[in-house]
Amino acid sequence: MVAKALLFGSNGQLGKTLIAHYQEQSSEYSLDCLRLDKPLINYPGPSVTDGLNIADLAQLCQVLNQHQPSLIINAAAYTNVDKAEIDREKANVVNAEAVKVMAEWAAQNHARLCHFSTDYVMSGLSREPLIESYPHQPMNYYGYTKSLAEQYIQQSGCEFLIIRTSWLYSQYSPNFVLTMAHLLRYKQHVFVVDDQWGVPTSATFVSRYTLQLLQAQQQGIYHVVPSGYTSWYEFALKIRLMMSKQYPELTLASIEPISSRDYAKLQQEKYQVAERPRYAILSNTKLATLLAKKIPDWTLAFENELRLFKLF
Ligand SMILES: NC(=O)c1ccc[n+]([C@@H]2O[C@H](COP(=O)([O-])OP(=O)(O)OC[C@H]3O[C@@H](n4cnc5c(N)ncnc54)[C@H](OP(=O)(O)O)[C@@H]3O)[C@@H](O)[C@H]2O)c1
Repeated sequence: MVAKALLFGSNGQLGKTLIAHYQEQSSEYSLDCLRLDKPLINYPGPSVTDGLNIADLAQLCQVLNQHQPSLIINAAAYTNVDKAEIDREKANVVNAEAVKVMAEWAAQNHARLCHFSTDYVMSGLSREPLIESYPHQPMNYYGYTKSLAEQYIQQSGCEFLIIRTSWLYSQYSPNFVLTMAHLLRYKQHVFVVDDQWGVPTSATFVSRYTLQLLQAQQQGIYHVVPSGYTSWYEFALKIRLMMSKQYPELTLASIEPISSRDYAKLQQEKYQVAERPRYAILSNTKLATLLAKKIPDWTLAFENELRLFKLF
C-alpha cells in the first residue's frame, strides 16, 4: 500500500506550487490536498477536499483520523502580516494552535510533519546571515505565532521538517512581485522601503528543495532560500528591469526609496503596518552543505522563475 501524504493549504501560492512539483517528481507517497473553501482554477491534480478550516481544531483532528497520513505537509497559514496585528485570535489559532494539533497527532501516530516557517521568527537585529539555531525574537504578531508553532512542533516529539523561507513569490497572487508589477504598470511613482533586507525566494525554489529534503528523510530545521540578499527597494528595481524587458512598449512607474518609518506613516490612514525585521537574511549554509552544492543567487533564481510566468 502506498503511504499517504496530506497537504494543508493547497490553495495558497506555496501549496499550488508544491502540488505541481509533487506530480513531476515521483514520490513514495500519494497526495491528498485539503483547502479552505475557494475553488481552484485549472487545478492540475490529486483529490481535493473542500471546506476544511484548520482553525476548527476538532474538525482538524477528525480529518487527520480519517486520512491517517504518514506525512503531513502544512502550507496553510494566516499570512497577512499587518492584519494579524488586529486579528490576533484567528492568526494564533491558524498559525500556532492548529499546528500544535498536527504535531501532536503526528507524534501519536508515527507520522512525519513538514511545516513552513519564516524569517519573521527572528528579530532582524543581527547583521549576519541567520543560521537555523539563531534565537527567536519575533517583532510582530505573525512572527510570534509562527515562532510558537515551531516550539509546539519541537515539544511534541514528532518527526519533523521545518522549512524556513522568506519573501516568497510565485505566479499566484498575492505577493510582492505581482503587486509591484501591477503598481509599476498603473501608477506614476511607487514608494518602496529601502531599509529592510532579506532574500527573495520563489515558491518553485522552496517546493523543489522541500521535496528533496523529504525524499532524503531529513529532519530538523532548514533555511530554504537562494544565496545573496537585497532590500525591497532593490528588489523592486529588479522587477522593473525584468518587466521593461518583457514589455518594452510599456511606460513604467518610477520607484522612490522610502524608510520603513515613513512608509508606515504614509499607510497609517489605511491600515496599521506591522513592524518588520530589518535584516532578515537567512543563511542557507546548512542546506548547501547537506546537498554539497552551491545554492544559486536570488537574482538568477528570479530570472529563471520569470521564464515560467509573465509579470503582467
Ligand atoms: N508569503 C511569504 O512571503 C512567506 C515568507 C516566509 C514564510 N512563509 C510561509 O510559507 C507558508 C506558505 O505561505 P504562502 O505565501 O503560500 O501563503 P498563502 O498564499 O497565503 O496561502 C496560505 C494558505 O493557507 C490557507 N488557510 C488560511 N487559513 C486557513 C484555515 N483556517 N484553514 C485552512 N486553510 C487556511 C489559505 O486558504 P485560502 O486560499 O482559502 O485563503 C491559503 O491557501 C506559510 O506557512 C507562510 O507562513 C511565507
